[in-house]
Order: sequence, then C-alpha cells, then structure tokens
Amino acid sequence: MDRGQKLFVQSCGFCHGNDATGSRAPDLIRSTSVNHDENGNTVGPIIRSGRPDKGMPGFPLSDAQIADIAAFLHSRVLAALNSASVEGDYPLQKLLTGNAAAGKAFFEGAGGCTGCHSSTGDFAGIGGKYQPIVLQSRILYPGGARSSVTVTPPSGKHVTGTLVHIDEFIVALRDDSGWYHSWPRAQVEAKVSDPLEAHRKLLYVYTDANIHDLFAYLEGLK
Ligand code: HEC
Ligand code: HEC
Repeated sequence: MDRGQKLFVQSCGFCHGNDATGSRAPDLIRSTSVNHDENGNTVGPIIRSGRPDKGMPGFPLSDAQIADIAAFLHSRVLAALNSASVEGDYPLQKLLTGNAAAGKAFFEGAGGCTGCHSSTGDFAGIGGKYQPIVLQSRILYPGGARSSVTVTPPSGKHVTGTLVHIDEFIVALRDDSGWYHSWPRAQVEAKVSDPLEAHRKLLYVYTDANIHDLFAYLEGLK
C-alpha cells in the first residue's frame, strides 16, 4: 500500500489527485473499475493501455507495481466507506448532488423502476441499509441475483441450473443437487436467463442527472 501510494502520487496524482478523489481526471474512488478490481485484474489493463483517446497515457508497469497501486486504491475506497457516515474524507454531501423529488418522479414514472421495485416494499429503508457510496454503485450494478441456464445437448434431454461459466467454447452450470456439468459450447444449445438483464439495459437509458436524482431519492428512504 505504501509503495503503491508513492507510485500513485508520482505517476497518477497529477491527473487523478494525490488522494485519488479526482482532479483533471475522474475520481477513482467512485470508479466501478476500481470497485470491481481484485489485485489489479481490472485496473492493470487500464493502466497498461491507458485511454489515449480520452487523455490517459499507458504506463508500462510490472505486475508487482500494479498490485501495489491496486492495494493503495482499495485502501482509499475502504477509508472512504468508513468515513462516509462520519465527518471525514468522503462526506455524503459529496454524493448528494441530485434532487430527491426529481428522483422520485423518475422512479415512479419514466424510469419504470416501480415495475420491479417499491419504496414501501423491497426498497423500504434502503437508504439505511447500505453505505451511501455502496448504494450509489448498487443502483448501477446490483449484485446478488444469479443467472440461470438451460442446456440442451444433442440427446435432447435438457438440464437447468445456475450458470457457472459461459464463453465461446464452454458452458457450465450447477444443478439443484449441487452437481457441476459442463459442455463444449458448439455441441449444445444454451439459453441463459439473467434476472438483471433489464438493469443492464437501463444503463443506456439514464442520464447522469437521473442517477444523481435517483440516488438522492433512495438515500432518503430510511
Ligand atoms: C494525463 C492524465 C492521466 C494520468 C497521468 C493518469 N490517468 Fe488515469 N485516467 C485519465 C483520464 C482522463 C481518464 C478517463 C478516461 C475515460 O473517460 O475513459 C482516466 C481513467 C482511469 C481509470 C478508469 C476509471 C474508470 O472508472 O473508468 C483508471 C483505473 C485510471 N485512470 C488509473 C490511473 C492510474 C493508476 C494512473 C497512474 C499509473 C493513471 N490513471 C494516470 C487521465 C490520467
Ligand atoms: C425488470 C425488473 C427491474 C427493473 C425495471 C428495475 N430493476 Fe432494479 N433490480 C432488479 C433485480 C432483479 C435486482 C436484483 C435483486 C437482488 O439482488 O435480489 C435489482 C436490484 C436493484 C438495486 C439493488 C438493491 C439491493 O438491495 O442490492 C437497486 C438500488 C435497484 N435495483 C434500483 C433500480 C432503479 C433505480 C430502477 C429504475 C431506474 C430499477 N432498479 C429498475 C430488477 C429491476
């Protein structure tokens, strides 16, 4: 973490701020790339290739240096989570830039959220359930819900279960009795059903303002 901090201040601080809360380049503490990262697996490729078209150069760092930077960024995220409810580095005010009434209107109207959620049902008290920064990322990337898959091999007898893995070559699932099955993708038909599909589509629907408004509304449901 200490090594990562030195490296970060030296190579990244100019753009992302020495404490990673953003300056001429985005805040990395609220970054979903950082939140999804484990030991540099998400931020490593970004650091190495950069985003040249967006103004971030690539850095040819070693695996060890990337792991150090990742450790530093995760320590900043943790510090921000712990300070979110206390006076400190990352106050709630910094996230609360939206308008709760507009968020409510969007939730009940154009956003279509009430098709699946309700402020008095599953979302009752949601503002108290999560740290503010966690709630904000859950609106965009809810965790939890697992996809299911039905695989039909040439024999015709299909198997349904929780999706474990799918790519161009392999599909794998775990059935209700806990057995793991896998097939070469080319030999079977696989039908995935993702309960969060509707969510992912929403990512293309909301504007930045909608997200801040929704956050202000949901944060107030205590
Ligand atoms: C010259 C300025 C600059 C420097 C130096 C820089 N970055 Fe960036 N970085 C950016 C910009 C601009 C973006 C946003 C790119 C975009 O919009 O996709 C970015 C994006 C990122 C992202 C992705 C954020 C996200 O949520 O999508 C990560 C992670 C990141 N930088 C890490 C680093 C690290 C670690 C370093 C140091 C090794 C570094 N950056 C150095 C300008 C910089
Ligand atoms: C088609 C159904 C559907 C719609 C429409 C929908 N969601 Fe969701 N949402 C889900 C499912 C499924 C989950 C996952 C629930 C779980 O993890 O148990 C979820 C989870 C969430 C969570 C995380 C809850 C938690 O406790 O982790 C938030 C926040 C959320 N949705 C906000 C919204 C908002 C805001 C909208 C409208 C802009 C919306 N959703 C529209 C289906 C939907």
